[in-house]
Amino acid sequence: MENNNNKIFIHTYGCQMNLNDTEIVKSIMIEAGYEFVDKIYKANVIFLNTCTVRENAENTVHNAIKNIYQIIKKRKYRSVVGILGCMAEHYGEKMLLYTNIVNLVAGPDEYRKLPELIKCCFENESKVAIDLSNKETYNDIIPVRDNSISAWISIMRGCNNFCSYCVVPYTRGRERSRPMNIILHEIDLLVSQNIKEITLLGQNVNNYSHNDINFPKLLEAVASTAPNVRVRFLTSHPKNMSSGLIDIIAKYDNICNYIHLPIQSGSNRILEKMNRKYTADHYFSLINKIREKINEVSISTDIIAGYPTETLKDHQATINLIKEIRFSSAFMFYYSPREGTKAFNDIDDVPIEEKKRRLNEIIELQNKISNEINRNKIGTQYSILIEGSSKHGNNQLMGKTKTFQTVVFDNIENKYKAGDIVTVIIKSATSKTLKGFIIEPTIKEE
Ligand code: 5AD
Ligand code: SF4
Repeated sequence: MENNNNKIFIHTYGCQMNLNDTEIVKSIMIEAGYEFVDKIYKANVIFLNTCTVRENAENTVHNAIKNIYQIIKKRKYRSVVGILGCMAEHYGEKMLLYTNIVNLVAGPDEYRKLPELIKCCFENESKVAIDLSNKETYNDIIPVRDNSISAWISIMRGCNNFCSYCVVPYTRGRERSRPMNIILHEIDLLVSQNIKEITLLGQNVNNYSHNDINFPKLLEAVASTAPNVRVRFLTSHPKNMSSGLIDIIAKYDNICNYIHLPIQSGSNRILEKMNRKYTADHYFSLINKIREKINEVSISTDIIAGYPTETLKDHQATINLIKEIRFSSAFMFYYSPREGTKAFNDIDDVPIEEKKRRLNEIIELQNKISNEINRNKIGTQYSILIEGSSKHGNNQLMGKTKTFQTVVFDNIENKYKAGDIVTVIIKSATSKTLKGFIIEPTIKEE
């Protein structure tokens, strides 16, 4: 079975940044002569690229490790089981001790070493590589992308914000930005491959800084280098989102009118404890500016329910803020204590049942708002970038509006395919999805 030693399987958990890291890992491993396979049983090297942002994310990885054990336990030859990403960085050697099947642990800044580490692991060693770097951005590595329509580009790595609840600054290290010319070069390449959508990634893109280039300048350069490509970016931090950035989004038609702007809580007391460095009022004025300047903009957010010491009054402030702002959508979580963070020292004093109750109240309210916003779109037409078949099948396609709204519609005589832009008129809506039909002839992206 030695000959499967160059067959590798990887599964990715967590955020887009991790998905982009997996593409980097693929590039490194293919260069070293490995071949990626789609099933664990076909591979002797098995990687999980992990996330540790909340306890639930970790539990899924623990279950996956158990599954891998079931698949490989009868093997008479050695397999390499590697934990990559944030859990690797966070737990290091403990990942080896936790189970006797994991024999490789590699943090997010150690991926160049993977081929070398795997060799040692095949020779009966176990390897842990979790040094963080102030420089590594994998600049010279072109990610291996499966998706031919849409591409992620990391413009920076790491985070310096140290929000009190968040483990990311510890697992991904200090902020470092990639040079603009390298990013633009990657974009030229993607344009030549006919990519239709680019998402610029960073934990806090507003902090992008390389030589004299800040994020608005970079975004403007990207938008004008690829005028026929839809440009998105993730994630913005409300404390340093500038008016200049809002102006650039408004100025370029190909920059999507969609902004993900995590609020986390509507209570100033909790925001301060979270070390978010803005107030609810600041957030409101930012939203007003965005809505004044950018046409039909959609804003999504992240919210944490049941942060340590959160009272019913604090929770109510979050509820009121959601009602007032009316986000298009939200990612909503209950607080999950993370070892090593500042908040971990606080008493996690909101009982789990109460956290869940508050979270459910937030989810119900947000779903109602999303539903109302979406129902208001019935009868309106949008230009949709087709991403592929809808999971409902029946010759249905799915795609996104520029505001990042998912729309499902029938293909007409099988004429359309992923990557096409079509005009769709909306006929029904739920809180998550719009349904519509293509109107022909379809108009080109403006
Ligand atoms: N508990 C709950 N949610 C968290 N997030 C980050 N850390 C935690 C935690 N310890 C959420 C935040 C962040 C999103 C990516 O995950 O809302 O914006
Ligand atoms: Fe975590 Fe805050 Fe950094 Fe986002 S900005 S990754 S929430 S520390």
